[in-house]
Amino acid sequence: MPVFSCGGMRYQFKWQDVDPNEVPRENQANLEATIHRALDLGINHIETARGYGSSEMQLGGVLPTLARDKIIVQTKVAPCDDAEKFLRTFDRSLRYLRLDYVDLLALHGINHRKFLHDSLKKDGCVAAARKLRNEGRIRFLGFSTHATTDIILDAVRSDEFDYVNLHWYFVNDLNWPAIQAAHERDMGVFIISPNDKGGKLYEPPQKLVELCRPLTPMQFNDLYCLARPEVHTLSCGASKPSDFDEHVAALEHYDHIIAAVDSIEQRLRDEMNRSLGLEWCQRWCEGLPQYSEVPGQVNLLEVLRLWTFAKSLDLLEWGKMRYNLLGQGDHWFPGENAGQLKTVDLKPALARSPFAERIPAILQEAHRLLFEAPKKRLSQS
Ligand SMILES: NC(=O)c1ccc[n+]([C@@H]2O[C@H](COP(=O)([O-])OP(=O)(O)OC[C@H]3O[C@@H](n4cnc5c(N)ncnc54)[C@H](OP(=O)(O)O)[C@@H]3O)[C@@H](O)[C@H]2O)c1
Repeated sequence: MPVFSCGGMRYQFKWQDVDPNEVPRENQANLEATIHRALDLGINHIETARGYGSSEMQLGGVLPTLARDKIIVQTKVAPCDDAEKFLRTFDRSLRYLRLDYVDLLALHGINHRKFLHDSLKKDGCVAAARKLRNEGRIRFLGFSTHATTDIILDAVRSDEFDYVNLHWYFVNDLNWPAIQAAHERDMGVFIISPNDKGGKLYEPPQKLVELCRPLTPMQFNDLYCLARPEVHTLSCGASKPSDFDEHVAALEHYDHIIAAVDSIEQRLRDEMNRSLGLEWCQRWCEGLPQYSEVPGQVNLLEVLRLWTFAKSLDLLEWGKMRYNLLGQGDHWFPGENAGQLKTVDLKPALARSPFAERIPAILQEAHRLLFEAPKKRLSQS
């Protein structure tokens, strides 16, 4: 598995299925150039999903022209409580990709307990996928997830999956226990959206640029993740061939990756401690319940995480991008923002937090700092 993977949701023509003849020639040419550039760089893990609209169909225009044993192809199909429907959807994926098998199939979005429970049922999607493996139509089964860490841990501990696609990077350490559990089971670990959800690092604030020198913020985040042996690959959501260049340039530090990362990480943490205090930076998420256990479903962990990094590292535009998706993202970004504080009593939910007294005021400041017009998810754009 290459340390960078070629993500498949930024170069497709539409987020909906379209007739192949509708795809503009230049859009298809850009997609194929991006794939060829990836392969030239050794980035031979091509990942897409049934839910990425015309992505699979357009990849079907180039993947069959490549040496099959030289590429690793992943697609993802949403879990559902009808295994036959799941299999029919997978059939469509293979037809669009114009391949006989994929190397990796992920259940796309095990984002809450019902999806996990239904998938693990004896006649559920996992059992259906096992049949696909026996037929040689998939080689490995995994899952992608935006769930809370406790649910991801239960999915990993089911021992039904060979790999997991999840969010973990410098600005989000919450899922580390899930990565450790995956590592104990020799599972593959694939980092989702490290540059976009990972801080909008392609449009970094000047403060972050200064603190990350001589690396760029995207390069620091790449090496920060890859410095962990538990992490196998980062998905790079390239929308054009040149998007890989900055990431690949970071690999010149790969042989001394710890040294390249440590000094910059220390600078970032020193600035965060100077700005918010060591105790907050080390313990802000301690004793906080998941959104599903908070009155009004206020996503305390996400709001305070966004505030912490927006406030201390000027990651304001990223904070706003994520904050204004709360309440709009369904199970892909669950829970509510802190706009309804006056109507809910948070005392019981904060009882086990060492910052119970301070958090209500911080939540109010977070709303003032980050709230703008509600945002839609990419796939709804
Ligand atoms: N639930 C899920 O399973 C889920 C959710 C999200 C993502 N993912 C996975 O993660 C993969 C990557 O996510 P992502 O597309 O958000 O990737 P990403 O690499 O984190 O972000 C890509 C975005 O960053 C911008 N960008 C600008 N310069 C870039 C550069 N040099 N390198 C990379 N990005 C640059 C791109 O903007 P421009 O378009 O303007 O170039 C693009 O919009 C997806 O393909 C998908 O498989 C999965």
